[in-house]
Amino acid sequence: MRKKIVAGNWKMNTTCPEGVELAKAVAAKSVEVPANVGLIVAPPATNLYCVAEAIKGSKVELSAQNCADHTSGAYTGEISAAMISSVGCQWTILGHSERRQYYGETDEKLVVKTKLALEAGLGVILCVGENLDEREAGKHFDVCTEQIKNVLYNFTAEDMKKIVIAYEPVWAIGTGKTATAEQAEEIHACIRKVIAEKFGQTVADDTTILYGGSCKPSNAKELFAQSDIDGGLIGGAALKADDFIQIALSF
Ligand code: PGA
Repeated sequence: MRKKIVAGNWKMNTTCPEGVELAKAVAAKSVEVPANVGLIVAPPATNLYCVAEAIKGSKVELSAQNCADHTSGAYTGEISAAMISSVGCQWTILGHSERRQYYGETDEKLVVKTKLALEAGLGVILCVGENLDEREAGKHFDVCTEQIKNVLYNFTAEDMKKIVIAYEPVWAIGTGKTATAEQAEEIHACIRKVIAEKFGQTVADDTTILYGGSCKPSNAKELFAQSDIDGGLIGGAALKADDFIQIALSF
């Protein structure tokens, strides 16, 4: 059975003390969340070390929001997968649409980053999703299929055990607009089919696929009730511990 996961992407929010406070609140409330639901928080890189301390002993796992496409050396401002792992992270998010859009993250780069993250022992939350123009042109299935093929078809069934996919319709991120449960489900089902075509049905059935894009306590239940939606990658609503935990209680 694939794992259900609710992951909070804090983006560029929280100073170190604010991050510790939020992480402690999430850790304290995480006891309410059933054992079969995984909880992950992804603070900014500057907060990883202190948040690792704050969640110690709880079920909450730690993720970075990105990692470098090199192992070490003269790459000013970059943070390697091994560095991320060394401060206590089990995960990194890769390919978030904001990174694709503002920082030139390409599928090609994501292949390298995913490889390095897996080699460093990290799990990967790989984001895919179409923008508004692509959705309006009816290209959403093709865009997501291409992104999955371009990145994940370079990996093995064994690697897939450490990879979670997040479908994030770009037009629904931070906009308050949510894909309807039906819109999200049909893409999730398509992604699972694309995974099955390469890795077989068992791997596809075991792959966790999260929904991201204005997921909040008021809509999480309906989204998570869909058969191919296994949880959420939460932005704005992850900045309030109560809302984040409420979402994790929505299965
Ligand atoms: P949002 O962000 O929940 O604020 O829309 C989702 C995400 O980008 O992960």
